[in-house]
Parts: sequence; structure tokens; C-alpha cells
Amino acid sequence: MKDINWGELSFGYFKTDYNVRCYCKDGKWGDLDMSDSEFFPMHIASTCMHYGQEVFEGLKVFRGIDGKVRMFRCQENAKRMKDSAEYIMMQAPPVELFVRAVKKAVEWNQEYIPPYESGASLYVRPLLIGIGPQLGVAPSTEYMFVVFVSPVGPYFKEGFKPVKTMLERVFDRAAPCGTGHIKVGGNYAAGMRSGEKAHHKGFSMSIFLDAKEKKYIDECGPANFFGIKNNTYVTPSASTILPSVTNASLMVLAEDMGLKVERRQIPVEELSTFEEIGACGTAAVISPIGSIEDSATGQTIVVGDPTVAGKWSTKLYNRLRGIQYGEEEDKFGWNEIL
Ligand code: PLP
Ligand code: COI
Repeated sequence: MKDINWGELSFGYFKTDYNVRCYCKDGKWGDLDMSDSEFFPMHIASTCMHYGQEVFEGLKVFRGIDGKVRMFRCQENAKRMKDSAEYIMMQAPPVELFVRAVKKAVEWNQEYIPPYESGASLYVRPLLIGIGPQLGVAPSTEYMFVVFVSPVGPYFKEGFKPVKTMLERVFDRAAPCGTGHIKVGGNYAAGMRSGEKAHHKGFSMSIFLDAKEKKYIDECGPANFFGIKNNTYVTPSASTILPSVTNASLMVLAEDMGLKVERRQIPVEELSTFEEIGACGTAAVISPIGSIEDSATGQTIVVGDPTVAGKWSTKLYNRLRGIQYGEEEDKFGWNEIL
């Protein structure tokens, strides 16, 4: 294992030894290549640079309590990349190729998988880009699929402590019938202005509203949104929201713990009625939300005790992390041992 100060890691890019690359031309995928370079040459007219033909994924690999290495629900990310790519007319790597490339990237960098005790993990970032030249707006005929890894600590410096957030009243992240439901870089570009506004004001992230009516909670910049009240786990349902693997897993765990699960619209006025709210995603796991400041009125909604994570969020967090680190039974078969 590399000599790294694992406990000090935050969620940032950390150079590892190798990455995996695979090229597709005219619909045919080639072999997996190993590269020790962090760079690649690119055509100046490539479609990823001009017309946003770029999709990515994020998943994690954990060194467990028993020393075994577990990869969490990789097939789901493979399927989502396929959905994302096809929606913006890109060639997607087949699920089998995606999974094989992820495993290779992990294997070649296994010394970077953080030790169990550190609480850190190995983040895997698969990326698909159009590299063929086009001047008129049209899909590329050539694609590059890259998988790199990075050991990471918590996404928010608070770790599993409630964060302060901002309700975005002006900017939209995704439009109905747009690209909110897929993982394309453009969505993050659309959210960047709001995210930076939030950061400058001392908030961890913005929470977006539905773009059409500006009445309902959509999702957070880098994560899905959930609220809990009356023994019910509630999460927004909309065509603009990225189907989160973490959220899907939490819904299963919530039901397994005896909570009811509702997927429905959440009007802004309902926020103050929740006993707990949070953001969830691969990078963030669960990030409890302690307060939401309305960017239009400056009024703040405080949820539960804004200094400690709520009871259910804590239970869900512990159960999910327990499964990922091999401390709890993997009842739903989510891990693959590498
Ligand atoms: N929503 C957005 C916009 C995201 O970027 C992410 C992160 O991937 C999520 C939700 C959470 O998805 P997942 O749990 O699959 O990581
Ligand atoms: C993830 O949770 O994997 C994400 O993609 C969130 C963010 C880093 C974009």
C-alpha cells in the first residue's frame, strides 16, 4: 500500500499510476489499453470540446473490515452511462466492457485503495468523450472511454455532519425534457454559477427547484435530495433528476428498516415540515442538511437540530457504509468482491 496520509484525504484529484483507455471507431470498440499518462492529445474540433459530447460516472471501491476489496453496484453505473451516452447520440461502451475497464483500473492501482481504518475509499471516474472532429453540430464517429481512479475522503469537509445549504431561486440546473436525468458535463456547467454563489456565501451547495414552475425541490448540485418525516422517506420524482444509485439503495434500506418510501413532488413549503433532510450520492454518501437559506428572501429553514445528524439519516448512513465496508451483511447483493 502506498504511503499516503489516508485520513487527511478530501474529495480531490489524486494522481495514481495508471488509467485505462478504450477507443471506439464507427461503432466498434477496441481493446483496453493501460496508460501511465494523465494526458491525451485531442483533435481541436472534437465534439466533446465544442458540442458537449461528454458523459461520466462515479462509483466507489472499499477495502473492508476483512481486508477484502468491494466494488459497489458497478453494473448500475455501466447502465446509466449507456443511457446517458445514447441520449446525446454517443456510442456507449457495453456494460461488460465498462465493468472490465473499471476492474482493470482498480487492479492496476490497488496500492491506492485506502485502508479500512481510514474511512477513505477509492473513487472511480469513468469518462466517455466524442473525439472525432465535426464543425457542424453532429455526433462524433469516434469515442474515447477512460477510467481513472483517485483515493478520496469526504466530499464535504463536514463529513457526516449537517451542512448549510442555499435554495436556488434564480438559476436552473436542468429543464424538463432536457438532460437532467443523465450524467453529462453540461448539467454541472449549468449548475456551476449557483454552486459558486453558494460557496461564496458559506454554503456547501445549492438546492435547485424545478425549472418549469419553480415550486418543487429538484435535486442538489452533486447529489439527490431526500426528506424524512412520520416514518417516511420522501424523495423528489421528476424527469430532470439524475437517478442516483445511492438514493435507490437508500430507498431499499429505508423500506428494510420499516420506513415508508414516497417518490413524489416536494413543494418548497413542505421543507419546514421534515424531521430530517439530506443529500445523497456516491461522493457525498449521505450529507445531512441542517439548514436551507432561501436565496430570494434570505430566510432560513432549520431542520431538526442543525448541529447533529438525525436518527434515521444516521441509521441509513451506518447501514450503507456497513455494507460497503463489509461490516454488515450484503443482503441485496450490491457488492462485488474484487
Ligand atoms: N445527482 C447528481 C447531479 C449527481 O452528480 C450525483 C452523483 O453522481 C447524484 C445525484 C448521485 O448519484 P449516485 O448516487 O449514483 O452517485
Ligand atoms: C458522484 O457522486 O459520483 C458525483 O459525480 C458527484 C460529483 C463529484 C459530480
